[in-house]
Order: sequence, then structure tokens, then C-alpha cells
Amino acid sequence: MTSATTHDDGTAILACTISRDVQNFDLLIEDMEAILGERWGDLGFAEALAFFSQPEAESLEFVALAIDGEDEDNLSLMGEIISQAKEKKIKVVLIAEDVTPASLHQLLRKGADEFVPYPLPEGELQEAIERMNKPDPVAAPQAAAVPMVQGESKEGALFVVQGLAGGVGSTTLAVNLAWELATVSDKDAPTVCLIDLDLQYGSVSTYLDLPRRETVFEMLSDTASMDDDVFSQALQTFEEKLKVLTSPSDLVPLDLITPEDIERVIDTARRQFDYVVVDMPTTLVHWSETVLQAAHVYFALLELDMRSAQNALRLKRALQAEELPFEKLRFALNRAPKFTDLNGKSRVKRMGESLGISIDLQLPDGGKPVMQSGDHGLPLANSAAKNPLRREIAKLAKSLHSLGSNNAEAA
Ligand SMILES: Nc1ncnc2c1ncn2[C@@H]1O[C@H](COP(=O)(O)OP(=O)(O)OP(=O)(O)O)[C@@H](O)[C@H]1O
Ligand SMILES: [Mg+2]
Repeated sequence: MTSATTHDDGTAILACTISRDVQNFDLLIEDMEAILGERWGDLGFAEALAFFSQPEAESLEFVALAIDGEDEDNLSLMGEIISQAKEKKIKVVLIAEDVTPASLHQLLRKGADEFVPYPLPEGELQEAIERMNKPDPVAAPQAAAVPMVQGESKEGALFVVQGLAGGVGSTTLAVNLAWELATVSDKDAPTVCLIDLDLQYGSVSTYLDLPRRETVFEMLSDTASMDDDVFSQALQTFEEKLKVLTSPSDLVPLDLITPEDIERVIDTARRQFDYVVVDMPTTLVHWSETVLQAAHVYFALLELDMRSAQNALRLKRALQAEELPFEKLRFALNRAPKFTDLNGKSRVKRMGESLGISIDLQLPDGGKPVMQSGDHGLPLANSAAKNPLRREIAKLAKSLHSLGSNNAEAA
């Protein structure tokens, strides 16, 4: 066994156990040694969270999260470990002794790939590892439960971004996510349509340096006679790979647009494209529900401040009061604290707990280049490809895309 926090001369660590005390799981130690020799380490729960963000964690193929009845009080921490491992594309085997089915269920829903009871049955860990190494359909964001099928009428997947407060970065995420999806693979790139539904102050056109067009307003005010051609003509092309419906050139009274209008626009876009990315206004409008219902993934973007926290709470209450699918929201924290900022990390945790939400995605602060990139009308990939924010969004696009293709193959 190797301490997980040190390198061992180029023989990178392939796996880790994560437990309160690995000595409680001596059969696991034996099996790990038999399968991996020296190439594994052991971590405590808190250590694991810090370790995932370190470069040494990049070689990790899987972690074995071993828990017993005593750890059940700490389920949210266990859940967080699983979520973060999944975010880093690390597989998770859950090993459990004396844990209630309800807790197990909760952890498996967090995305654990395999479950093995403890004491470990002979050969069971090895088999679980083999099963995990087959191409897997589960290593993907939990919210995207709706199948995404690609076919003749494309029935593209709908990804929506809404900021929970002004300026939290919704347009930045929408624009860059759309561009990363459009460029996700050289051959066989998916077709992507970005729609700015922040109809009044939308800034997609600014961030991609596209003019706002009058035809957009005409189309929106008469969607009943909109056909595929009318829709296509209202779109603009960014660098030959991304189609964009900017917000209209004139300020639209939000009430002029009905849920039916929005439904038609979204349906038309989904027929024509593999992916449709929507930037929503911060305010709730009477067609917000339409978009929420149609979305495959709905990102609710927030920052680590009181404004976001209070708005998140209001949104949660509003959706629950209307019996709308609150659980569809995937909370994403922008300008998230670095992993070295332990104080910041615990504030994130507390924010999630006090709001009763799980913050599934964290996007780092990318500094000035992010604003500059928007001012120059370019996605980050084209102006600051190494920016940490760009990297995270690129990863997100890859994971959303792999989810789509896995499902298409299965269909
Ligand atoms: N992770 C980040 N790192 C650095 N700068 C960021 C980040 N996210 C957003 N920004 C910057 O913050 C500003 C606001 O971002 P953006 O316009 O995307 O927010 P928004 O939620 O769409 O705002 P609005 O409410 O006006 O629609 C922009 O200048 C953008 O470049
Ligand atoms: Mg915006």
C-alpha cells in the first residue's frame, strides 16, 4: 500500500480506497493488493475531496468507497465524494457493511458505478472492476435521465442555462457550452443551435459578435406561420459550426411571447439540430415552465453569495408550490473557490446543505480573459483555450455529448 499523496517514481497510482479507516476492511486491502500490487493508496473521507483536484489524481481509474453503519450519519459527505469522483471521470465501487438499503440507494443514485457488499465475496471486487471498465452508460450527469435519440427528425437534446441572479455567468456558460459541443469532435461533429431567450437584454450576440436581426422579432411575433425555412433564415452562423438565434434587435415586451411561441421555437430547433442550447433570462416568465419541462438538463447557475442563495431558495419554493420538477435543476456554481481554499469549500458545502440542493457542477473563476473574450466576440476556446473556465466547460460538453451518443447507440 502506498500513501496516496506521494508519487511513486512514475508508477502512477491507479486506484484508492476511501474510508474512515481502511484497517476496518482488511479483506479489501488483500483484494486491492492482489489486483493492483503497489499501485493503489488509501484516503480518508476529507482527504479524498482534496485529493481529487490534485494532479496525482489524474491517473486514478477507480476508487473503492468503503463504508459501514457508522458512516451513515455522513451520507452527504459520501455523496459529495461520489459526485466529485464522477466529475473527474473516476469510477466508484461502493463497498458497504451494515448499511441500510435507503442509504445505499441514495449513494447509488449519486452515481456509484458498482456495489459490493462487505465482507467481500471471493472475486467480487475483480468482477466489479471488469464490469466498470466496459463502456458505461452511467458516467454522466444525473439530471439527464431523458433519452436523447438522434435520427431523421433529430429530436435534439435541450440544454438550458439560467442565472439565479444577474451577471452570474449564464450567457458565458451558454455560449461556451454551445461552442464546445459544436467542436467536440473533428469528424462527425454534432449540429448545435444556440438560442438567446433572454429576449430583452440577451448578450449572446455581443459575445459572438453577431448582429441582432429584425427577422427574429418578426418570427417570434408570428410563430404560428413559422416553418423550418423561416426558422433557418432567422439563424446566423458563427464560424461555420454554430447556428445562433440571437435575441431580437428591438426590446420585446416579455408578455408578447406566449408559451406556445416558445414551444414552437424549441420544437423546430430540436427537429433540426443534435443539440439546442438556450440562455434564459434571470427573471421567471410565463414560459419558463415550458422550457423547464422540455429541457434534458437545466443548469441553474449561482455564485457563492447571499443574492444567489436567496434567489435559489425563492426559485425552489416557487417551483415546489407549482409542483414543477424542481429536481430537474442542476445547480452549478460559477466562480467556485479553488480546492486549496478550504474555507471556500466549506462555504460551498454549507450553502448546498442550507438550501437543500446539491451543487453538481463547479466552474472556476477564469479571471479577466473571460470578460475580454466576450468583448472580442469570441468563445474562450478561440481566445484563451487554456483558461481554467474553458477547460471545465469543455469537459462538461464532452460528458454531455458522450451521454447522447451512448444512448443513441443503445437505441
Ligand atoms: N467563471 C468566470 N470567470 C471570470 N469571469 C467570468 C466568469 N463567468 C462570467 N464572467 C464574467 O462575468 C460577466 C457576466 O457574465 P455573463 O454575461 O455571462 O452573466 P449573465 O448571467 O449572462 O449576466 P446577465 O444577467 O447580464 O444576463 C462577464 O463579463 C463575464 O465575462
Ligand atoms: Mg446574460
